[in-house]
Amino acid sequence: MLTEYLSGQIEKLAQRDDLPLHRKLYEALRRAILDGKLASGHRLPASRELAHDLQLSRNTVVAALNQLNVEGLLTSHVGRGTYVSDRPAQKAARRQPPPVSQDTKLSKRGQRILTNFSAEQLEIYPFTSGIVDFSAFPIALWRRLQHKHWRMAYPDMLDYSYSGGHAPLRNAVASYLRVFRNMSIDKEQVIITSGTQQSLELCAQILADLDDTVWIEDPAYWGAVKAFMATGLRLHPVAVDGQGLAPQSLSGAPSPRLIYVTPSHQYPTGVVMSLARRQEILAIARKHKAWVLEDDYDSEFRFSGPSIEAMAALDTDQRVLYMGSFSKVLYPGLKLGYLVVPRGLAAPLKQAHYDLNRPGQIPLQAALAEFIEMGHFSTALRDARHSYAERRRCLLEALKPCLGALAHISGADQGLHLCVNLPVAVDDKGLAQRIGAMGLTVRALSAYCVERKDLRGIVIGYGYAPLAEIQRYGPILAKAISAALARLA
Ligand SMILES: Cc1ncc(COP(=O)(O)O)c(C=O)c1O
Repeated sequence: MLTEYLSGQIEKLAQRDDLPLHRKLYEALRRAILDGKLASGHRLPASRELAHDLQLSRNTVVAALNQLNVEGLLTSHVGRGTYVSDRPAQKAARRQPPPVSQDTKLSKRGQRILTNFSAEQLEIYPFTSGIVDFSAFPIALWRRLQHKHWRMAYPDMLDYSYSGGHAPLRNAVASYLRVFRNMSIDKEQVIITSGTQQSLELCAQILADLDDTVWIEDPAYWGAVKAFMATGLRLHPVAVDGQGLAPQSLSGAPSPRLIYVTPSHQYPTGVVMSLARRQEILAIARKHKAWVLEDDYDSEFRFSGPSIEAMAALDTDQRVLYMGSFSKVLYPGLKLGYLVVPRGLAAPLKQAHYDLNRPGQIPLQAALAEFIEMGHFSTALRDARHSYAERRRCLLEALKPCLGALAHISGADQGLHLCVNLPVAVDDKGLAQRIGAMGLTVRALSAYCVERKDLRGIVIGYGYAPLAEIQRYGPILAKAISAALARLA
């Protein structure tokens, strides 16, 4: 019954070439819920089953279900299935979070975090940057490893974990970084965290005082901006140019305590920091006795050009703290990453991590350590590189018609997103909205700017959309960008 109804609704949207399939399924399910055809508490078939019955890919079904989950119309419980939420109509009416008003009980800091530079609602559509292909994760193997480590979990493994994380995982991370990032480190310098967000907060809490200055890139990764706001630091935005964060423009700038950079693939422009600039920043850090926070979030995916050394590998003064994450190669909900610290900081930062975060999660870390040791991580990485390289090639091909004197791409050599840079006269937020109305999420470059007013562009991810969707919707993106440029004439 449900299958027939959904197929019929999707059929009705057949003319809407601009809507991707997952969006059509989303619309059909949303209608069914709001019209009461699917009542509160109704259990939906599993995504695999639904995909089979509707003859859609599982990715398509998962994308539609995820969006309805985010909007509160569905509720998923691991192992128990997906249900229509209680009173979904009211929830739908509240889809947008209410604006943060001045008379709330939030602290000034809380209001600042929520209103400034706001992170958008999670939208898992083709071209959303920062989202990877979850469907590629070897879930059955992972389940087996997790079961095994839960079965073996001796009481110590259920404690908070004092030593910076499970030793075999720290060892595996250190080996990986010695080989792939040329870093001379040992496992005692590695601290397992719940991802880069936590690594950033830990560094800000322990290495800087309230009102100390952190230099950040402009445009910037909003996650880092929020971590620094939350820890009471003063943000000093530094413009990024074609070589990365550009300190030469900083005569009279406040002395930094921390310098946050994404040198391998600046987020969001994708610019690679030149060697000269890396050395310049290390020299500034030395002069000001500042710490460099190197966020190496997607260096696993390098598609062309020479490989780039981590700043941590160039650092002779023990000034760089290096952050990596398993969010991109595996999946973000795993919530595991690592912080590699200079030897002299290892003991205090492990202690602080224990005191502030009570990390725990050792059985999970043990499963991941075995996943890496048995070579599954390398396999997952190799497959992901191959698959993302194809998607990137296809996206670049599709974007060709809109490129030229007015539009150029940056950041396509690495990572899972690229940026189409546009003239300052283009309303990039309006353009992103028009593209969004077609069910294709992209982000405006100006939305990442902290102070700058001179940047316009569209940030496009190719990690999530399957190749077929990139082939199909890439030209639509290019057309929308060309139309925005034509308006300038
Ligand atoms: C610039 C940047 N750093 C780090 C991360 C990963 O953060 P986490 O490990 O907290 O998931 C992301 C994810 O999108 C990112 O874009």
